[in-house]
Amino acid sequence: MIRVKEGGAMPPGEVFLRPSRVEVDLDAIGANYARIRDVLGEVKLCAVVKADAYGAGAVMVARHLESLGIERLAVVTLDEAVELRQAGIRAPILNMGAIFPDQAPLAVRYYIEQMVFQPELLGALDAAARAAGVLARIHLKVDTGMSRYGLPAEAAAALIARLPEWPALECIGVMTHFPMSDGLDKSFAQLQIGRFSALRREVEGAGRRIPLWHMCNSGGVLDLPEAHMDMVRVGLMLYGYYPSREVRRPFDLRPALQVRTRIAAVRTISRGDSVGYGRRYMAEQPERIAVLPVGYADGYDRKLRNIGEVLVAGRRAPIVGGLCMDACFIQVTDIPEAVEGSEVTLMGSDGGEEISPHDIAARIESVSYEVMARWGRRLPRVYRRGGEIVAIRSDLTAEN
Ligand SMILES: Cc1ncc(COP(=O)(O)O)c(C=O)c1O
Repeated sequence: MIRVKEGGAMPPGEVFLRPSRVEVDLDAIGANYARIRDVLGEVKLCAVVKADAYGAGAVMVARHLESLGIERLAVVTLDEAVELRQAGIRAPILNMGAIFPDQAPLAVRYYIEQMVFQPELLGALDAAARAAGVLARIHLKVDTGMSRYGLPAEAAAALIARLPEWPALECIGVMTHFPMSDGLDKSFAQLQIGRFSALRREVEGAGRRIPLWHMCNSGGVLDLPEAHMDMVRVGLMLYGYYPSREVRRPFDLRPALQVRTRIAAVRTISRGDSVGYGRRYMAEQPERIAVLPVGYADGYDRKLRNIGEVLVAGRRAPIVGGLCMDACFIQVTDIPEAVEGSEVTLMGSDGGEEISPHDIAARIESVSYEVMARWGRRLPRVYRRGGEIVAIRSDLTAEN
């Protein structure tokens, strides 16, 4: 459910049913979009809004990007694409995920550009398009080294030569993907660029023109300008984060997501008292413990037990004890400002301190992508523009 306040700001003190929420700065997404656009020149930009726009909320992000003139959006399931269409998004949508032939009519009905590499699916899309009296757009996937979806270059060339067999299909793209574009060693990425470029030369040499050849994700945009080709597919950078510490940083990005909550209870415990399930943390002296109403069911990883940190009053406070499904504990002995109701930042910045998705990922041996994509549907998404709340999405209740 999306509730958009008409005509500007929500009244201050608007009550959230839940104090734990993901705050999304639409201005930051807009600024990141502009920075990325600047370096691309004529190259087209496809905004990756899969996985609920990496936690930011796909519909609101897509609407905002559409208002800024985005050329194309990308998702990985038909449901994600249909969600956007049903919300009124009109921009071209590329479904980069695999579908089965029986799903072809749905892709056609919602004007989804489908990633394909199987002849059976090409046949099913062609039949569905003919039945609907339209052309179905496809992007042919080539596997240059990810070993996920796609055909090896040679088989892809053969399939491209066969495309006239399916007259209701319009092949507007050929795509491949980097498994490692953001590391220091670019040799495998270079090998992939070589394979993909050779295929392009072969196809074009045979007189076949396909308008969009695309392979770059965020890492490729930053470090492999020779691979930008006709279009790039960017996710993480739109949300304000570089894909790794190794990539070049030719422009500044503004983090767009903050995950916050408020302290639900504070207690002082004595030496020898334990905290939480499993009694994994024992106080060695009297300590002030604050309880946060957010837990692993919200996407806050249990592995953060005794190693995670949050920000309170601009200072770092350690997570102590095991994380519960719906709550966790922080130690605030030295932060007297931490009282019931105090704002707490799990991801984002407060004062001069910042906890990025990379910081959380490093502690739980994960990647920023996973940290972002896991913030759960119980957390309302609160959208800001110009510092004001302009919309709140709650998946649970219209009252929020
Ligand atoms: C096929 C494909 N293209 C592009 C992207 C965007 O990657 P990034 O978020 O690093 O920009 C992804 C995301 O993983 C992807 O799977």
